[in-house]
Amino acid sequence: MTDTFHLEFTVNGRLRVLDIAASHTLLDVLRDDIGLTGTKECCVVGECGACTVIVDGRSVNSCLMLAAEADGADVLTVEGLAPSGQLDALQQAFLDTGAAQCGFCIPGQLMSARALLQRTPHPTPEQINEALAGTLCRCAGYEQSRQAVLAAAEEVGS
Ligand code: FES
Ligand code: FES
Repeated sequence: MTDTFHLEFTVNGRLRVLDIAASHTLLDVLRDDIGLTGTKECCVVGECGACTVIVDGRSVNSCLMLAAEADGADVLTVEGLAPSGQLDALQQAFLDTGAAQCGFCIPGQLMSARALLQRTPHPTPEQINEALAGTLCRCAGYEQSRQAVLAAAEEVGS
């Protein structure tokens, strides 16, 4: 018999209450139990960053975190950046700079960048590189992403 866990947490501003398999990761719950597939599943061993979400203001690899550890937490996923369907400044900047090619890494990059801008509204290029280093991109490289984060920081901070 599978052990279950009663999970209550907030995802993108909405309270979620559900019984999950105790072994499920946060990534499993977001994608399979809640249906938020914007968070990508790739290596599932903490190497690629495609599964990055923000938990209580901190970017985490959701494939490495048991969902039970998120009990009571406030989780933001890529779907939460545009709740009304209108792109936020960061998403628009990624689009404008051409950072999004195949797009697979972009949710993770966006969430890493969002976490950075929340704690450091005017980051240096080095801080941006450091924030994005955990999310692997095989298509566009990082220059466009770095430019996008700088542009978003200027727009939000201006
Ligand atoms: S899927 Fe989580 S780090 Fe790769
Ligand atoms: S845009 Fe394709 S992996 Fe980054």
